Amino acid sequence: MTQPADHHFDVIVVGGGAIGLSTGYHLGKRKAKTLVLEQFNFKNQLGSSAGVSRQYRIPYPEEYMVQMALDAQPYWDELQTLTPKTLLDKVGTLWFGDPSVHSTEGNIAEAEQALKALNVPYTSLTAKEIEAQYHFRNLPDTYTGLFQADGASIDFRATIETLYQACERNPYTILQDESPVTAIEQDGKLFNVTTPKGVFTSEKLVLVPGPYIDGVINLLGFTIEATYWNMSSCYFKKTDPTIQYPTWFVFQNAIGSNGNQFYGFPGVDWDHPEYIRVAPDFVIDPLTSPEQRTLVPNPQELAYTSAWVRDHMTGLDPTPHFTSTCLIALSRIPDKELLIDFAPPYVPNNQNIVVYATGWAAKFTPFLGKILTELALDGHSTFDISPFKLGYTYFKAI
Ligand code: BEZ
Repeated sequence: MTQPADHHFDVIVVGGGAIGLSTGYHLGKRKAKTLVLEQFNFKNQLGSSAGVSRQYRIPYPEEYMVQMALDAQPYWDELQTLTPKTLLDKVGTLWFGDPSVHSTEGNIAEAEQALKALNVPYTSLTAKEIEAQYHFRNLPDTYTGLFQADGASIDFRATIETLYQACERNPYTILQDESPVTAIEQDGKLFNVTTPKGVFTSEKLVLVPGPYIDGVINLLGFTIEATYWNMSSCYFKKTDPTIQYPTWFVFQNAIGSNGNQFYGFPGVDWDHPEYIRVAPDFVIDPLTSPEQRTLVPNPQELAYTSAWVRDHMTGLDPTPHFTSTCLIALSRIPDKELLIDFAPPYVPNNQNIVVYATGWAAKFTPFLGKILTELALDGHSTFDISPFKLGYTYFKAI
């Protein structure tokens, strides 16, 4: 990887996952001299960017999130022009389950209201229709659902690769791996960022290290309230090779104190094509820091997922053949998933430090890079980020 000859940049982006690369890409387009620092290797499987598929969906219980998903679409279209690989496999989003359940992803009835308010087309479904049209079985009669045709399975490996290559092609953007940030000092209006490969200076910082956020913001004297989760995924072999699912999410009542939501994907040609990925969306074993993470999925999460596949899906062998994990930071933000803000006011030059932390952001990848770029270069975004400016609640001084 190229070593930066010059040590001074307009912007240093800390974190080289999907969002860091997207920010590097957008900053480069604005001709801002940018250094993207990655503590491991780029395209690694050690953070929130791990795993090679994600869901793009429009249903959300809040209108501003529906709007954000709609606003993200042109940025996906733009990224698509940079690669022959299909980034969004538009198989649709199926949400179904107990209409009274409020999960971390929201609630079906509220999402229907928000979709209606923004004139997003969708179809309401009964339990019997979901079984007949989408291969699920043994669903309680009380379950309802919605299908929204613009939902997609994201080829996240291709997304990250496309952003990485776009950054590499841009002379304004330097990518530097194996560069954990060990100190951030301020010298007047300049930030001095120390890594094992040297000390780099910039006028602006964008901090997007995913689940490693606390280790970075601690260097500036503040912390974020979050828990960490080694989220697992299981791959189930198709016994019926013709079986196909949309991207889906099921809302159900709790097992003990853990919500037992599951979500899944269609078979995709970029990720174990003969298999269907299904994953639990409930935390059994929260971690207090990223260092506690192993690459081994929680066996209870796997067992619950396998039992759900056996009881409610068709055309699959309910034994998980492969697994994967991804490390994420979860905040306690009720329904408001993303935190996008400047550093808190007690940090000197806080308006020159942009932070994105926590939440499910993969579906916003190309758009979030644009938002963070505008915040860094212009001090504000053309997109209304007020619902996400939650640092005053979730950042604490240390
Ligand atoms: C999401 O669409 O945001 C999502 C889907 C599955 C698990 C977690 C988040």
